[in-house]
Amino acid sequence: MKTRITELLAIRHPIVQGGMHHVGYAEMASAVSNAGGLGIITGLTQRTPADLAREIARCKELTDKPFGVNLTFLPSVTPPDYPGYVRVIIDSGVKVVETAGNNPQAYLPALKEASVKVVHKCTSVRHALKAEAIGCDAVSIDGFECGGHPGEDDIPNMILLPRASEELKIPILASGGMADARSLVAALALGADGMNMGTRFIATKEAPVHDNVKAALLAADERDTRLIMRPLRNTERVLINAAVERVLETERQRGAEITFEDVIDEVAGVYPRILQGGEMDAGAWSCGMVAGLIHDIPTCEELIDRIMSEADELIRGRLAGLI
Ligand SMILES: Cc1cc2nc3c(=O)[nH]c(=O)nc-3n(C[C@H](O)[C@H](O)[C@H](O)COP(=O)(O)O)c2cc1C
Repeated sequence: MKTRITELLAIRHPIVQGGMHHVGYAEMASAVSNAGGLGIITGLTQRTPADLAREIARCKELTDKPFGVNLTFLPSVTPPDYPGYVRVIIDSGVKVVETAGNNPQAYLPALKEASVKVVHKCTSVRHALKAEAIGCDAVSIDGFECGGHPGEDDIPNMILLPRASEELKIPILASGGMADARSLVAALALGADGMNMGTRFIATKEAPVHDNVKAALLAADERDTRLIMRPLRNTERVLINAAVERVLETERQRGAEITFEDVIDEVAGVYPRILQGGEMDAGAWSCGMVAGLIHDIPTCEELIDRIMSEADELIRGRLAGLI
């Protein structure tokens, strides 16, 4: 399949693995890239730019295919060394960056000069238009279904993708709720040029997470996610567990008075304990509604090959047969 995304990112299949904190290590990114998609290392999971440089080097040992790095711009009192991370990305010869969170404008000139393609992930048409205006090469549009931060507009991809494609000229990756060939074909029909998956890639053999995490995804259905931190305007879609119940109870009790400090124990610094330690009630962790569509733990290659061959059957068989 050839789309504007396969052309732009120089990949075989129009499938990207979104940056995921404490999941997007070299093992994950290289497995997706080796399978013909675009794997992405999560920049901020590496504590310093030097650590990121080592992780990129490790990924290069595991694949000779293109892979990307995610840079998430968080609102923060003491921000990470973003210029340092950008420098490492450029110096390591990485060719794709997935930016997310705040506007990446400050870093675009340096990235462009180094011919790094910038895919900005955002959750609304207005932010996607802004990304296009400042020179991003593509956008990844995260619908309301997505695991992680869906923003505050609550527009599902059935509306968000066609709206985005009405307005944008740059290529679009459909993100949020994508799991299989049906998602890919639907995303293309809605105006996207490819799809980005987060949660689905955690349920693969190569994902460097504890087996308890994969088991939790298999057990979960589409009703098992919750939105937390909405009163803080930092909404996150997470898998329900004891810690999430506590956060929701605190939100009910504190109402408009709530501050980040009230939920910090459940949401800050908990990822390693959950994702690597397998302590499934240690805190809140991002997970998409798409958990309801996850029924097995294939390798990344099996997953991507299955998506592409079933997409072919869907388009040539079922859809063409309707006409
Ligand atoms: C465990 C987990 C951690 C994530 N961490 C990040 C992150 O650090 N930065 C980021 O931009 N997106 C992050 N995301 C969002 C994904 O990159 C992707 O946009 C999202 O998962 C797509 O929705 P889906 O889960 O329905 O596929 C995370 C998602 C998950 C499930």
